[in-house]
Amino acid sequence: MRLLFIGDVVGSPGRNMVQEYLPKLKQKFQPQLTILNGENAASGKGITEDIYKRFLEWGAQAITMGNHTWDKKEIFEFIDDADYMIRPANFPEGTPGKGLLFFKYNQTEIAIINLQGRTFLPPIDDPFTKADQLIEEAKKRTNLIFVDFHAEATSEKQALAWYLDGRVTAVVGTHTHTQTADERILPKGTAYITDVGMTGSYDGILGTSKDPVIKKFLTSLPVRFEVEKQGRNQLNAVIIDLDPNSATSKKIQRILINDDHPFFG
Ligand SMILES: [Fe+2]
Repeated sequence: MRLLFIGDVVGSPGRNMVQEYLPKLKQKFQPQLTILNGENAASGKGITEDIYKRFLEWGAQAITMGNHTWDKKEIFEFIDDADYMIRPANFPEGTPGKGLLFFKYNQTEIAIINLQGRTFLPPIDDPFTKADQLIEEAKKRTNLIFVDFHAEATSEKQALAWYLDGRVTAVVGTHTHTQTADERILPKGTAYITDVGMTGSYDGILGTSKDPVIKKFLTSLPVRFEVEKQGRNQLNAVIIDLDPNSATSKKIQRILINDDHPFFG
């Protein structure tokens, strides 16, 4: 079984890249499951129902979220009905939405889990013990488990991956918006990458316009960050080949599409 995961889609440049390249990626790699992180999809912060539905129309089967989950207020009106969306499972008890969903392809079922780190991010429940609980729950149905760990610190991401090695099929990092070149299969069969990267502006800073970010560093004054809509765009993703029998990963491959790494369909 092959899985495609697209890194944090930022604003309209990111959405346009998904619309343009998802069919081409599907044609080339033939994944059975496509997941994307959509927490920055609406003007860089949050997601709307309309965008969520368009991602599904364009071919994603699951949408993961992160620290910007609640930024668009309409999320509260549709998240409980959004069957294919998950938000970090370690948000406190009673939070709307869910952090675990199951996807079925023929007879193969895979659990998809979203967790969020606690280092340099708002304090929430422990993602490690939450992972333990969710793995136990998921394993009642399937041993194939995919985790999107939305976290800032590389050490926290590596720690969770090693903690879960052999117990889940893949742990991919999101949130830092820059693809890392450390993709690997851990010794007990868990695929891992610290960060899948970002889908959006290639000429901005993490998807936002450069000038306000530079001004912020120069002056420390408050500035307004906006999605960079001029110039070139990029798409970052990974392809993971899973063995449903052993519930391990056989291969993880980075996908980088930008002017310096053109896509060959
Ligand atoms: Fe984030």
